[in-house]
Amino acid sequence: MIILSFETSCDETAISVIESTGDIQNSTHRVLGNIVYSQAAKHAEFGGVYPNLAKREHQENLVPLTTEALKQASLFSEESTPVPDAALSDLRDESFKESVRAFLASIAKPAIDEIVVTQGPGLEPALWTGINFAETLGKAWGVPVRGVDHMEGHIVSALVSQDAPETYVLSPVSFPILALLISGGHTELILMRDWFSYELIGKTRDDAVGEAFDKVARLLDLPYPGGPEVAKYAASQRNETDTIRFPRPMIGDQSCDFSFSGLKTAVLYHLKEVNLTEEEKGKVARAFEDAARDVLVKKTEQALTKTDAQTLVVGGGVSANTHIREGVTDLVEKNFPHVSLKYPHNSLTGDNALMIGIAGFLRAQHKDPIQEKIVAAGNQSLA
Ligand code: KG4
Ligand code: ZN
Repeated sequence: MIILSFETSCDETAISVIESTGDIQNSTHRVLGNIVYSQAAKHAEFGGVYPNLAKREHQENLVPLTTEALKQASLFSEESTPVPDAALSDLRDESFKESVRAFLASIAKPAIDEIVVTQGPGLEPALWTGINFAETLGKAWGVPVRGVDHMEGHIVSALVSQDAPETYVLSPVSFPILALLISGGHTELILMRDWFSYELIGKTRDDAVGEAFDKVARLLDLPYPGGPEVAKYAASQRNETDTIRFPRPMIGDQSCDFSFSGLKTAVLYHLKEVNLTEEEKGKVARAFEDAARDVLVKKTEQALTKTDAQTLVVGGGVSANTHIREGVTDLVEKNFPHVSLKYPHNSLTGDNALMIGIAGFLRAQHKDPIQEKIVAAGNQSLA
């Protein structure tokens, strides 16, 4: 199957073209085209993602980036093609509609079998932009369009491994799979007893861990997105002995739920008492990262014990954090040596469209029907 996929749930406009072969147990995904355009620099002045700006940026970038991705895949052949008005009826923004019309009028129908798009969770105006674009192309080309869950994409991104630079493979996995999903919008532990059968084991009661990283970065005067910045500052103080200690919220609690807002508040109060030197930023970043890591590791330990999972996957933007990875790896090596631990390849930790395309392929192999109409679901949950 050749799959064109779109991810526009937040501040990345991502498009990929993959050629997928195999079945749900064993599959190979060759990357024919792949683009991740980050809007982060544009959102930085707001200190976080600004939904209407994200939508505008997606509208401006989807056409040129899709053109580029199809060209990478050698699937763009220029041809004057009539575009019936009905094909464009989902697009309300006039300038977006005109750019999509011009795009469709200039390209021959590419040899793709399915279009896959993120349906949720995420920012609804941003999700709708991707969905309407995908459905418009689907209508114009007569290609089925499938909506998939963004967090499912993050799980899939950790299940596949990179075989060659442009090839990802999925080998048979042992169930149940426990997923620790840590991103800007989510912090949850989800159990998958079989393909796509999800059970919620724990989740944050307030902020997501990535959100806490971003908020702490702001308190430290570091730019958005804050996760990588906080990690860099934390690393600069990692070997010092004079340290600060922040609370580890809910660490003694028997549930697998998380809470990060108190930790952020502890950082805020601490910063009222000190001078914000570069060294102090490093100390605070380190203490925050240590506290967040301890909670994530402890809750994952509880969830592994409770669920008897055979595979642990860590997914979402925060899974790029090396200190957190070391904590989780340590836990599994020491206490759960029978558990197979999987992280996404570096190219797949953040938001991307490859994970969406691969998830779509697996859903197709699972014989899941195509939805009649895809509806953006900002708060959709896997479980
Ligand atoms: O999955 P993702 O790209 O987007 C969402 O679905 O939310 O996750 C983005 C989050 C942001 O909060 C970002 O600060 C965080 O992941 N992040 C990190 C690191 N890299 C990205 N957090 C901690 N350490 C990192 N190295
Ligand atoms: Zn994400």
